Amino acid sequence: MPSITVEPCTFALFGALGDLALRKLFPALFQLDQADLLHADTQILALARDAGEPQQYIATIENALRGYIDAKNLDEGVMQRFLARLSYVRMDFLQADDYQQLAGQVAGDKCLIAYFATPASVYGSICANLARVGLVDRTRVVLEKPIGHDLASSREVNNAVAQYFPETRIYRIDHYLGKETVQNLIALRFANSLFETQWNQNHISHVEITVAEKVGIEGRWGYFDQAGQLRDMIQNHLLQLLCLIAMDPPSDLSADSIRDEKVKVLKALEPITAEQLSQRVVRGQYVAGNSAGKAVPGYLEEENSNTESNTETFVALRADIRNWRWSGVPFYLRTGKRMAEKMSQIVIHFKEPPHYIFAAEQRPLISNRLIIRLQPDEGISLQVMTKDQGLDKGMQLRSGPLQLSFSDTYQSARIPDAYERLLLEVMRGNQNLFVRKDEIEHAWLWCDQLIDGWKRLGDKPKPYAAGSWGPMASIALITRDGKAWYGDL
Ligand code: BG6
Repeated sequence: MPSITVEPCTFALFGALGDLALRKLFPALFQLDQADLLHADTQILALARDAGEPQQYIATIENALRGYIDAKNLDEGVMQRFLARLSYVRMDFLQADDYQQLAGQVAGDKCLIAYFATPASVYGSICANLARVGLVDRTRVVLEKPIGHDLASSREVNNAVAQYFPETRIYRIDHYLGKETVQNLIALRFANSLFETQWNQNHISHVEITVAEKVGIEGRWGYFDQAGQLRDMIQNHLLQLLCLIAMDPPSDLSADSIRDEKVKVLKALEPITAEQLSQRVVRGQYVAGNSAGKAVPGYLEEENSNTESNTETFVALRADIRNWRWSGVPFYLRTGKRMAEKMSQIVIHFKEPPHYIFAAEQRPLISNRLIIRLQPDEGISLQVMTKDQGLDKGMQLRSGPLQLSFSDTYQSARIPDAYERLLLEVMRGNQNLFVRKDEIEHAWLWCDQLIDGWKRLGDKPKPYAAGSWGPMASIALITRDGKAWYGDL
């Protein structure tokens, strides 16, 4: 039996037939049910506008579950229990009258969780309509990203929601915060004095954060072309990772203590002026190439594309944090679509020992690195220097890993999908893993200046072949500082 208890709730999913709901949210709810983490009285309302019979929708959801969850990991008894929790409610989210029917379905005094898997432009209207039918006091709202496309539009969305809901009942999703290894970052940093004492500019030379995706745009050209990789990935996922690495120890694990520390980091990010852009930031756009041994089209040849777009599918940049702890320690961030591999990792490069006594040719080898691997093969590895074994080796050094692989170490435990953890935490009323309004706003403020700079300079993204590690300029970005991306070392 699970060691935590979860209260019953009504889980109302707005946009229940969208890709996110079918691919992530229903499978996550199902897995929670299978792990006995949904209360017996929890009911799920699937809300969408499409016409059709309720039974058809339940069948669509069942098919999606069977598509995403391996048959051998799926308990048929739980499937029946899960389907019995589901009701389909057909409604137009902008029609106030349709909310009466919803109110009728939200029974008793259970908490209502309203999950908005819809465009952010309708969040405000949904909140107003929920308020009209008295569904505010016991409601938590969950907002999917993207919340706006710049500071002004994100404020508009946040303010519209804030008219009806206090910040303590608003859960903004950044699904990276629900990933197992990201969670482990907090444990690693603050449950081991070994690291925390070294975690500053005296001992760390630089930090790399790479989130590389192998996939291209996958039928999302329309959305993506308006956004680009900076808004889609850096503004949220990569800056969140940077905050967790760079923040000071919070005084406790409460949501606000953690978020206060993250906001301090965002505020301390050094602005990058238009004049510095060419040295500090690289934008790229993939052209045709090869992925997994197959020829794949370039960004401008994808379905529904146009040939004029200057939208970036890759960004590499150097961020600096203006505070005592990180002064002089660059953070290199890199993310792109259609790259060589799907791989997300953080590499902390420690400084060389202050006095060097080994053979000169071995010097480039020397430095400790802590590698935090988010996906695939979640794990943490510390590269340490040891002596090569053997009589004939003299004092030859080698770099080897002290390794903690989560999948090997905790073999029996399935690594849960990020959404499982996030949905569970919403049901438990814990905001730790959710992004506060001021975090989003400071992240936009920093990203907006980059976008404005690009616009002002008429910057065009640099081409890179699909299936590569990005434009050459992204290598120059780091080698200019006498460093190299881990893996290129
Ligand atoms: C989403 C982005 O937030 O994250 C997508 O909108 C991206 O473009 C996805 O593909 C990556 O998530 P993950 O968990 O697969 O790394």
